[in-house]
This record gives sequence, C-alpha cells and structure tokens, in this order.
Amino acid sequence: MSAFGSTSTADEVLAGKDLSGKTVFITGGASGLGQETARAMAAKGAHVVIAARDQAKLDQAAAAIRAGSASDQVDTIVVDLASLDSVRACGKEANERFDKIDLLINNAGVMACPLTYTADGFEVQFGTNHLGHFLLTKHLMPLVEKGADKRIVNLSSRGHHIAPVDLSDPNFENREYQPWLSYGHSKTANVLFSVGLEQRFADRGIHSYAVHPGGIATNLGRHLSEQDIAELMQRIRESAEADGKEPQPMKTVEQGAATTCWAATADELEGSGGVYCEDCHVAPVDDVSRTSGVRSYAVDRQTADDLWALSEELVGESFSN
Ligand SMILES: NC(=O)c1ccc[n+]([C@@H]2O[C@H](COP(=O)([O-])OP(=O)(O)OC[C@H]3O[C@@H](n4cnc5c(N)ncnc54)[C@H](OP(=O)(O)O)[C@@H]3O)[C@@H](O)[C@H]2O)c1
Repeated sequence: MSAFGSTSTADEVLAGKDLSGKTVFITGGASGLGQETARAMAAKGAHVVIAARDQAKLDQAAAAIRAGSASDQVDTIVVDLASLDSVRACGKEANERFDKIDLLINNAGVMACPLTYTADGFEVQFGTNHLGHFLLTKHLMPLVEKGADKRIVNLSSRGHHIAPVDLSDPNFENREYQPWLSYGHSKTANVLFSVGLEQRFADRGIHSYAVHPGGIATNLGRHLSEQDIAELMQRIRESAEADGKEPQPMKTVEQGAATTCWAATADELEGSGGVYCEDCHVAPVDDVSRTSGVRSYAVDRQTADDLWALSEELVGESFSN
C-alpha cells in the first residue's frame, strides 16, 4: 500500500509532491516533529502556519524553517492548548488571517507530566493533548471546509496501548494519578477523535488520520528523570522480546515526521480516514502485539461517539453551532 517504511524521512515521503498553494496548520510547530513537518512541507512549497504557546519560540522556529526550506511562506500564531480561552482566541485570529487550511496537523503534546491542571481545571495531558485540540479543530473547521485537501492528522502514540480512554474519570478525580496511564488515555483519545471526525465529516470530504510517529528523542521527554528513561527503555526491550522481535531503533526527527507527512499527503489514503498509521502504513487492529498496531478500543465507534459527547460537554461547545 505504501512504498515507505520505518526508516523513511519526511523529505523522502514528500519527494515529487508539489504543495504550493496549500496551507498547512501545525500545532506544536515550534519544536521536534512539528517543526520538521513544517520544514519539509514548506520545502515543497506549502504555506505553513506554526502554532505554539510561546511567541519567542515561534519566531526562532519560523526562522529555522525559512532557512531550512528556502521558503518565506511561514506564519506563526500563538495558542495555549491548556487554556480554552486561548484556543478560542487562536481560532478567531486564524479565521481572520487565513483564507483556508488544506491540512490541519494536530501535533502538539505533553507526556508523562506530574499531576497538574489546565486553566479550565482539566488534567493537563487529557486537557492539552485531546480537549485543546478538540476545541481548536472545531474553531478551525470553517477554514478546513474551504481547503482543497481537507485532511486532519492527529498525533497519537503507541503509548495508546497503555490504556483505553476513561470516560467516567477523564481528569483522575476518583483514582490515583499515574503519569503514563494518563498519557495512554489521552493518546487513545487522539485516535478516537480521528474516528469521530471521520464519522461526522467524511461525507463533506474531510478525512482524519491518527499517527504514531515512532520513538524519537525530542523535548517530549522533558518530564522524565534518568530512572524514568531507563525504565521506559526496559519496557521497550521487554515488549520486543514478548513479540519475538529486536527492539526498534529510535528514529531521527526526520524519520519521526515521515508518517505525519505520509498521512497528510498519500494518494493511497484519498477518501479513507478514521485509521491509525505507523511507519508510513495504515496499522492493523491488534489487541495482542506490544510493538505495533492499533488497539480495538481506540477505533471503537461507540466509544468515539461517547468521547465526542463528553468532550463537547467539557469544553461547553458543540461542533454543530
Ligand atoms: N517523540 C516521540 O517519541 C513521540 C512518540 C509518540 C508520539 N509522539 C507525539 O508526537 C507529538 C509531537 O511531539 P514531539 O516529540 O515533537 O515533542 P516536542 O518536541 O516536545 O513538541 C511538542 C510541542 O507541543 C507543544 N505544546 C506542549 N504543550 C502545549 C500547549 N499547552 N499549547 C500549545 N503547544 C503546546 C510544545 O511547545 P513548548 O515547547 O512550548 O512546550 C512543542 O512545540 C506529540 O503529540 C507526541 O505525543 C511523539
């Protein structure tokens, strides 16, 4: 289905593509995989809009993207996904400044944080990774509807294997907080959001894809101690052993951005979203493998509907008005 794999880079995936005339909106575009996705797409002629919470970081990243892509079509916009007011303000500003969004890449994320809360009182991983993007997507949908490509890519993670989404206690009010459990629950929500978007918007030509980018050393690990990292590497080795495989090597940032670029542009995916992609392929549903695949609970349509209803209730807004 795809000529690319685990070692492909963003540039290789986009080779031969012409993205001129396309607007790509990327959250978390001032760091790591988001910045590399922006660079690679700008190098193919796209107008890229990078969104992050810190204007100074955005300016620095925009300069690096311009330098690395020879493109001057780089815009920045501030959004703090951990504040619904900031998300609404970003949505309003984006609708005023831009005519359309062809590709929306919901890439920003936080991982394994200590227990903290967003401005609106949501546990920070669920609040940032899922609810912030849920509301931002609602506010950007008028621009996506005006785009030609109409694709939405949501960065999930193999970390979704850790846990299903807990709809009865999304903010860890009635159970002990565990940083990795929360990350898994938020990353499952990212897959379910892709399924929910597909169910609601496919008939308008808008398709949505969840992506596991691989394991890449970025700023995402900022909350991990040396011991946390050692334990994580041990779990990765044990998972590979359980599956009878060699542990997958870490990817470079260039390789880590490849599956996002593939999901956003691959001709093979035209008209068929609501899927989870890894290593530049659509991954099979698999409830056993510890090293690949998407869990059935992450693509369950009823759970996607239930999460959608809960998310609308928590953000206090509906997609339909
Ligand atoms: N790296 C991996 O191994 C890996 C594996 C699986 C999945 N992923 C996923 O890939 C995505 C990108 O991660 P990365 O590895 O590129 O990490 P990264 O370098 O830390 O980038 C994450 C980006 O998200 C932004 N962000 C965090 N909180 C935000 C908020 N409240 N509002 C707005 N922006 C916010 C960060 O901005 P600041 O710089 O201001 O914090 C940063 O630009 C994440 O969704 C992550 O879960 C990564």
